[in-house]
Amino acid sequence: MISLGIEGTAHTTGIGIIDSKGEVLADVRSIYKPAAGIHPREAAQFISDHIREAVDGALDESNLNILDIDLISFSQGPGMGPCLRTVATASRALSLYYKIPIMGVNHCVAHIEIGKLMSGFSDPLILYVSGGNTQILKLKDSRYRIFGETLDIGIGNMLDKFGRSVGLKHPAGPKIEELAKKGKEYIELPYVVKGTDLSFSGVLTAAIQKFKSDFNLEDVCFSLQETSFSMLVEVTERALAHLKMKEVLLTGGVGNNKRLQDMLKLMAKEHGAKFQVPINYCSDNGVMIAWLGILMYNSKVRQELKDTVINQRFRTDDVEVVWVK
Ligand code: ATP
Ligand code: FE2
Repeated sequence: MISLGIEGTAHTTGIGIIDSKGEVLADVRSIYKPAAGIHPREAAQFISDHIREAVDGALDESNLNILDIDLISFSQGPGMGPCLRTVATASRALSLYYKIPIMGVNHCVAHIEIGKLMSGFSDPLILYVSGGNTQILKLKDSRYRIFGETLDIGIGNMLDKFGRSVGLKHPAGPKIEELAKKGKEYIELPYVVKGTDLSFSGVLTAAIQKFKSDFNLEDVCFSLQETSFSMLVEVTERALAHLKMKEVLLTGGVGNNKRLQDMLKLMAKEHGAKFQVPINYCSDNGVMIAWLGILMYNSKVRQELKDTVINQRFRTDDVEVVWVK
């Protein structure tokens, strides 16, 4: 079967096409780059302005006709209300007009499942780090159970907010990574791990203050990464040791960061575990949405229009993982 996935929870209008074997047939992404933070209404407008050409682009790329598509999958949540509504409306329209089954999927679970597909891992410990989310998870009794998570903002959001305060364009994560490479001096910043949970608001405020009190931006970026990534690695390591797992999977937009990858790889190695990251699929994309749709459909999940209502606060552990036996 062939699934067309529509991603649009915030900045990325992504259309992906994938088949049941996991072969990617198309991956088209249009990214909204706001001057400051993401404005939900403007982001939704960006999606409605770009979704048509992205669908056409993906069909062109795969040499398929819309009638070759067996499933329309879309990101049902979590995300910004206006964005989710725009994507759900477009997905319902395609489904109704062309009489193709529809499947609303959880964006966070999609980040995990594309990571599993690309890594070949069957039962990994997962570190999911993105703009809105920071979670350490493991599948147990048909749910991705949250071992630890942020108590306030997601790590990507923290990096983006810091970037905005010091004059970097959105998204700031990749720019902070570049600046951090040139940092030399480590500046002490608050390190907040509570049990297996994390908090990033203190390190954010302190880093902004350091910059304002004339510390060099490269050193602050370096210190911000070292501190916040160490927090992530600490909790992941605790889970790994406690659960005695053999695979560590990094996913979500912040997973693009090479320094974070290296830190986790080293930690995993010390525990005799393998480490993987879905290199081209960490950031939001339509392929991951299409793939999760296939997994659900092939496990006999079916949705009617009434089941496609968006869910802004759709949690990772709300989803019953019926596709893993
Ligand atoms: P979610 O709903 O999963 O939270 P999202 O809207 O945050 O999704 P993603 O594409 O998963 O979207 O992640 C975007 C985040 O990743 C942004 O905060 C961005 O700054 C961050 N990011 C991207 N590349 C890097 C990088 N190289 N280093 C650090 N952070 C990065
Ligand atoms: Fe995401």
